[in-house]
Amino acid sequence: MNIPRLHPDTIEAVKEKADIYEIVSERVILKRRGKNFVGLCPFHEEKTPSFNVSPSKQMYYCFGCGASGNAITFIMEIGKHSFVDAVLELAKRYQVPIKTLEQEKNKELQQQITLRQQLYEIIAIAVNFYQHALRQPQGHQALEYLKSNRNLSEEIIQKFQLGYAPPGWETLYHYLVEVKKIPVQLVEKTGLIKQKKGGGGYIDLFRDRIIIPIHDSQGRAIAFGGRSLTNEEPKYLNSPETELFNKRKTLFALDKAKTYISKQDYAIIVEGYFDAIALHAVGINNVVASLGTALSIEQVRILLRYTESKQIILNFDADKAGTNATERAIEELTNLVYKGEIQLKILNLTDGKDADEYLKNSSRQEYEKLLNESPLWIDWQIERILTGKNLKQVGHYQQVAREMVKLLSRIEENQIRNYYLNRCAEMLSMGESSLVPLRVRSLLLEINRIKFRRSEKNEKKDKEIFPLPPEIVLLEEAEALILRIYLHCPEYRKTILDILEERNIQFSFSHHRFLWRQILEIQTPEISASEIISKIQERKLEYPEEMAQISKLFYLDEKTRQDIAREPLIIRSAAACIERIICEKRYRYYMEMWSQIDLNANPELSRYYWQQSLAQKNRIQELDRERFPSIYDLI
Ligand code: UTP
Ligand code: MN
Repeated sequence: MNIPRLHPDTIEAVKEKADIYEIVSERVILKRRGKNFVGLCPFHEEKTPSFNVSPSKQMYYCFGCGASGNAITFIMEIGKHSFVDAVLELAKRYQVPIKTLEQEKNKELQQQITLRQQLYEIIAIAVNFYQHALRQPQGHQALEYLKSNRNLSEEIIQKFQLGYAPPGWETLYHYLVEVKKIPVQLVEKTGLIKQKKGGGGYIDLFRDRIIIPIHDSQGRAIAFGGRSLTNEEPKYLNSPETELFNKRKTLFALDKAKTYISKQDYAIIVEGYFDAIALHAVGINNVVASLGTALSIEQVRILLRYTESKQIILNFDADKAGTNATERAIEELTNLVYKGEIQLKILNLTDGKDADEYLKNSSRQEYEKLLNESPLWIDWQIERILTGKNLKQVGHYQQVAREMVKLLSRIEENQIRNYYLNRCAEMLSMGESSLVPLRVRSLLLEINRIKFRRSEKNEKKDKEIFPLPPEIVLLEEAEALILRIYLHCPEYRKTILDILEERNIQFSFSHHRFLWRQILEIQTPEISASEIISKIQERKLEYPEEMAQISKLFYLDEKTRQDIAREPLIIRSAAACIERIICEKRYRYYMEMWSQIDLNANPELSRYYWQQSLAQKNRIQELDRERFPSIYDLI
């Protein structure tokens, strides 16, 4: 059984009528004391009275046990009744009529339904009125505009029920209120007329405009867009929000597009009314328009109902405003897109055209080809991040990398994120494939840093930290990179020697140590790359195994040489990477030792390990800080 929900009026009436003294005195013997009454508390055991009742406040309060309340709570506590039962009991006793919320709601709902019905009807009449006006002599210019400027056929004009609002101030008002005898208050609720400033009469909202009816998903007209025929601002005037028209939940042409969206299993969203109309006109029917305002998540949710694959293509204008609108749309849909709940693609037409303009000179097939090639939103955003940037410039490079990190850190699907992580690392490596793992690592470090900060700020439950690639692989890559540069680029030898010394770096891999020994033995100040390499290679017979492991370092194609030469920072970054890995290793080692030592038995050693581990930790932090501003140049 449904528990009735009491109307607040009933509760208030009960509170007003019920008398606390009368109700309590049926259970408790009360004696007057001043303005109040006292008695033995019914809620706890006591010998002297501490239970007070105040008729003026309609309250009780026990100084012994703290029980307190009004008539309703008294009935509830004493009889172990629910709130509703207590109110009902009192209502019966004091003859308060019982009203429930449901009754009230039903009545309201009923009223709303009839109001909405009436508004639909008025708007339908207005649609006819505007359509009719388009066919009158005064609508001639408007009709011409639709046919010539917009290339629309009679059939499409009919299908979209396009019309014309005459230039008079109150033609529609006159028709609806005086001819059709519709109460003016009702007409006002459609948003089609508005009160004159300063009161006294009404004027039409739309005057001398092309009228584009907006329908709900069931095909009922609920509002209008009106395009000016002259250059009058605004270019488009839209119905205000009404009982029927909620902009956030309405998509233009959805009624005509929905079955096609289901059939083709994806939807196209354009910005303008005429973009949608133009696409429908050439037979691309799975198209809706967002009504000019920013695309809302509600609008998208509605669309998603019709597609199984959850695929949506945004075809907003490619100009600055359109691009911003696209970014805002992605932002609005953040939750859906980053979780991979919608497959969002972005189509920007060539030369910044909108769909309507594009179709003036291009065919449906050409448009469809572009549709098929439209990039996923992530690719589109990466493209945007890269536009106008020259990665060879440090400033640009950092900016690009930072934005990539921001983008990647929000992608929640592992597979997708890993895929784009690699893509971004490749782009940042600018063709030097040996750098890719280092870039992946640096991106991941930054992503984790951002995620960690977010989780600290509790912005999101964002505790997941992504695993870094195995350090051992990274270490070998970094060492190999330094050795390779040392061998092939004599101009950087001094830098490398300085850095290795400054950071106290020793090579960790035995084949690298082997190569380093050969280099130090053989090298003379002026020795060239080819000379030093060929001298080392002469030792092949002597050390066949070691030589096999390092021989790949002897080759460097021209492109890689250029890449390396272009980025001297690579050396520093590789060195920093090596040092960090070594520091981490040492840190773990000292912590391990410290934890195994008995502090009391060996206080000195214990302190020593503690300090050592602290020193390593500080150095790691220092390295990270050092790397932070230019983390993207470094590893
Ligand atoms: P655009 O300014 O891109 O115009 O507005 P458009 O659709 O290309 O217009 P035409 O081709 O010159 O006729 C895109 C959409 O933004 C809304 C309308 O829904 C329009 O279709 N809009 C635009 C307004 O609501 N008010 C305005 O003043 C302008
Ligand atoms: Mn346009």
